[in-house]
Amino acid sequence: MFGRKKKQPIEITVMPRHVAIIMDGNGRWATRRGLPRTAGHKVGSENFVKTVDACIRLGLECLTVYAFSTENWQRSADEVEGIMKIMHAYIIKYVPELIKKNVRLRILGDLSYFDEESRRALLESENKLENNTGLTLCIALSYGGRNEIRQAVEALIKEGATEISEQSISDKLYTASLPDPDLVIRTGGEKRISNFLLWQSAYAEYYFSDDLWPDFNEEKLKEAIAEFGKRKRRYGK
Ligand code: FPP
Repeated sequence: MFGRKKKQPIEITVMPRHVAIIMDGNGRWATRRGLPRTAGHKVGSENFVKTVDACIRLGLECLTVYAFSTENWQRSADEVEGIMKIMHAYIIKYVPELIKKNVRLRILGDLSYFDEESRRALLESENKLENNTGLTLCIALSYGGRNEIRQAVEALIKEGATEISEQSISDKLYTASLPDPDLVIRTGGEKRISNFLLWQSAYAEYYFSDDLWPDFNEEKLKEAIAEFGKRKRRYGK
């Protein structure tokens, strides 16, 4: 009777096919605790793993996370090295678990920034998971939306294309054959898209959360998806 009001369960009415997340706020999460920024990325990676599990439970078809942008290479050498170490460890170590969880992996980005060994390791991880049929997990790594579109057009020119259609560009993007994102979530309070899936998100619904990425838990993800279900999508019509 005097207890706290019971929280209403979150009702998901429409399930998006593809959710894309800009995982922002790791640095601030760490700084507020007097920790080095890399500690925030470590906790952020743990939250990434929990989010993948939550998406599997929700039966989501495709999840894309923005892990590292082409612009992020300009951060301090220490931070870049820290993020790369964490990511390398996760992507490689996580593969056997992803096999068990029936997850497919796609790395979206310009891998020419990586050394030969890292490039090979990433491609091997993708190959090991390519026959899975559950959640498609896309990790945007060394990713920039404008550069992705530029590369697609360049590839078409090199093939000698005389006409360029929207479909022919889509087919040359890192996301070729994937559904466009229906819902793009950005954590960390900023309201911008930071060169993320520019072409693919033409008709996506955006959801901005003030929570820093390490605090964005399953409950908050469900709230975002429930809010998505309330939006009226008109595709410009
Ligand atoms: C943005 O927070 C976060 C990043 C640039 C790195 C994100 C990387 C991870 C969460 C690791 C993911 C791991 C895998 C395996 C995909 P920020 O540093 O810009 O935070 P700030 O805005 O508070 O400074």
